[in-house]
Amino acid sequence: MFNQRVMSGVQPTGHLHLGNYLGAIKNFTALQNTHECVFCIVDLHAITEYQSASTLHNNIFNVAATFIGCGIDFKNHMIFQQSQVSAHSELAWILDCTARIGWLNRMTQFKEKAGKNRENASVGLFNYPVLMSADILAYHASHVPVGEDQKQHLELTRDIAQKFNTDYGVDFFPLPEPVIMGEATRVMSLRDGTKKMSKSDVSDMSRINLTDSKDSIAQKIRKSKTDPYPLPEDKKDMLERAEATNLLSIYAALSDISIDTTINMFAGKPFSHFKSELTDLIIDKIVPIGDTIHALLKNKDYLENILNTGSEKARAIANPIVRKVHNIVGFRC
Ligand code: AQP
Repeated sequence: MFNQRVMSGVQPTGHLHLGNYLGAIKNFTALQNTHECVFCIVDLHAITEYQSASTLHNNIFNVAATFIGCGIDFKNHMIFQQSQVSAHSELAWILDCTARIGWLNRMTQFKEKAGKNRENASVGLFNYPVLMSADILAYHASHVPVGEDQKQHLELTRDIAQKFNTDYGVDFFPLPEPVIMGEATRVMSLRDGTKKMSKSDVSDMSRINLTDSKDSIAQKIRKSKTDPYPLPEDKKDMLERAEATNLLSIYAALSDISIDTTINMFAGKPFSHFKSELTDLIIDKIVPIGDTIHALLKNKDYLENILNTGSEKARAIANPIVRKVHNIVGFRC
């Protein structure tokens, strides 16, 4: 049967934030103790919306430094750049011929990102989930740690894998399981508890970047949106209180305790008290990561070496799998 293998990626589209950390990267570091892990900087995905070449180049280093700063063990596992492993784009084309347009039309992330200007969105943005399926299936990954927002793309990946297996009468692609874990699977904007915390939000006050200073973290939490009531007494009090729910979930996830315990700790307290505790916690957990990121970014050669070694390890897994796909579909090998 298939091996247990973890695969996930992060787009080099800006400075990574608390949402990327709690929804994805913190879970990467937990899984690396029990699974073989493949962690990718998905630069092919990052050009689905324009950014300048120099910005993208820098962002690739930012993500590499962030992975390491968050504790990813690149020696026993791998960190690499997607565009350096051609198996991703090669398999994406083959899977394009398996995926159905109707399936892609249902993807909510495309609808959100393209907005009203759908006709003007890049074909790549529309096709993004098929490339993501190729990222995962090229490694026969069994588990994919992601934030809640990626769940639909994982379901699509399973549909594509299933259809490929059925069309060609094989049991070749495993159906990967999404791993959506922790108490903050969808971290929301600090300015609007109904919007996802995102790198591309124009307001830097909406997110905690993993490289933020103590002062900046304190200011962002102090100014974060709340409501006029004391902290909720139990879970049902959290309904309709998006901002309180978000901040409590961040506290729970960062301190590795349940949301119920967190609610009990702060039940009935004013936001001013809770915000001060939350600020201390975020500073305690995030500032050391930021310090490591800043230090690593001063040594680009070191990061380049890690990425090059990672690409070699990744190619060694993905190339034979994609060669077998060629065989299955009938290409002359
Ligand atoms: N707010 C979030 N809460 C929980 N998880 C999140 N992730 C992203 N935002 C949150 C998870 O982080 C991983 C990497 O995401 P990505 O950078 O590849 O793409 P994204 O989801 O599009 O992230 P952003 O910040 O919203 O980027 P932009 O603004 O560039 O589009 C994924 O596992 C994702 O679920």
